[in-house]
Amino acid sequence: MQIAVIGTGYVGLVTGACFAEFGNTVTCVDKDAAKIDSLIKGRVPIYEPGLDAIVQKNLKEGRLAFSTNLAEAIEKSLVVLLAVGTPDRGDGFADMSQIEEVARRIAFALNGYKVIVTKSTVPVGAAGRIKSIIDENKTSGVRFSVAANPEFLREGAAINDFLRPDRVVIGCRDEEAIAILKDLYRPLYLIETPFVITTPESAELIKYASNAFLATKVSFVNEIANLCDLLGADVKDVAKGMGMDKRIGPKFLHPGPGFGGSCFPKDARALVALAKDAGYELKIANAVIDVNEQQRELSLDRIRELVPDLNAKTIAVLGLSFKPETDDIRESPAIKIIEKLIAAGARVKAYDPASMEAAKAVLPEVQYCEDEYAAGRGADALVLITEWNQFRGLDLQRLRNEIRSPNIVDLRNVYEPHTVRSFGFKYVSMGRNRAH
Ligand code: UDX
Repeated sequence: MQIAVIGTGYVGLVTGACFAEFGNTVTCVDKDAAKIDSLIKGRVPIYEPGLDAIVQKNLKEGRLAFSTNLAEAIEKSLVVLLAVGTPDRGDGFADMSQIEEVARRIAFALNGYKVIVTKSTVPVGAAGRIKSIIDENKTSGVRFSVAANPEFLREGAAINDFLRPDRVVIGCRDEEAIAILKDLYRPLYLIETPFVITTPESAELIKYASNAFLATKVSFVNEIANLCDLLGADVKDVAKGMGMDKRIGPKFLHPGPGFGGSCFPKDARALVALAKDAGYELKIANAVIDVNEQQRELSLDRIRELVPDLNAKTIAVLGLSFKPETDDIRESPAIKIIEKLIAAGARVKAYDPASMEAAKAVLPEVQYCEDEYAAGRGADALVLITEWNQFRGLDLQRLRNEIRSPNIVDLRNVYEPHTVRSFGFKYVSMGRNRAH
């Protein structure tokens, strides 16, 4: 099937490459000519494990193409997937301007029946809005359908999440369009991936509600961790015991400095704004956001437990991205915690395997180091903020020799307290400080 994917960010690029992998002929479109030139040469501008290989393979085999010509891509495609940005407008609402601009351009380029699909996370009611824009602007009586098909990709695991999703959600009222989309997703149908066929509004809300619920689990376990430190319990054991209940499940019960990234914070705020606009206050989602903000400040309290006066001290930070296996620092807790450390007068050294270039643009005053031990050299504390695999087996004796004051703050509970202390370190973490 001939399809067009509009927008070559995390979602658009993964979607386009994976649909090409399924055997479709895919044109990925972006207005950023430099980005398209780079992609045509097979250079993928984002860090996403496996994406380089799948893009280059499908480019070489002629199923995947990159272009800045939106009209031409639309004219030759049966399905047009919108994967452009819907960033936070600043008041919690998603900025729909890119979606609306593409909708208008699609209206002008309609040369036959097409299925217009929203892949980006869009507010409930977006499909209806897109339909109106195309109806108002199309120059011919050509028919089209609009569908919502939200993605559930996790950064760092996006290819796997696309090729082996828990479910495919299709929101559409038009049987012909539903049949076309089922055909597009046929490779997943064949591996018994469950499909949810519903209305566009329900599909759009499934996305927001899913992200907000996952964020709720994170904020909930962060609060339980904070309580554990007051009651002398061990949050790892508490979360393990909770997660064995199949109604709860073990995932998203790891405490830390709070959730970040381009989705949870934005989507939680958008859902609250959407509900408020409809006259309903989402008390739990509001609390999830507040708890998340509080967790950044509480992370700083953990550091102050070992370094009470941060002024003129050197703090080493491991991890800058919002999670491992990505170079994405959007709403990363590490960035927010470093800003607070600098405001308190500390000098910050940092190491991250993939995100230092991105971080330099927002935190030029940080000293970026070539590895974990260089970051720890001469520091008054080492703070583990993002749990990259290579930070899980640090040579603690070597670190002990390099660091000035033997303090480790483990915001992701990667290490066992007694192991770290046996090397002469003082050690604090999240939700285990009075249990051991
Ligand atoms: C999320 C959703 O998982 C995905 O389905 C959606 O499409 C996009 O948003 P992503 O933002 O890439 O994916 O990362 P995710 O792995 O969900 O983690 C989100 C944040 O929660 C990260 O900052 C992570 O560090 C934090 N987190 C996650 C925790 O603090 N504890 C956990 O147990 C899990």
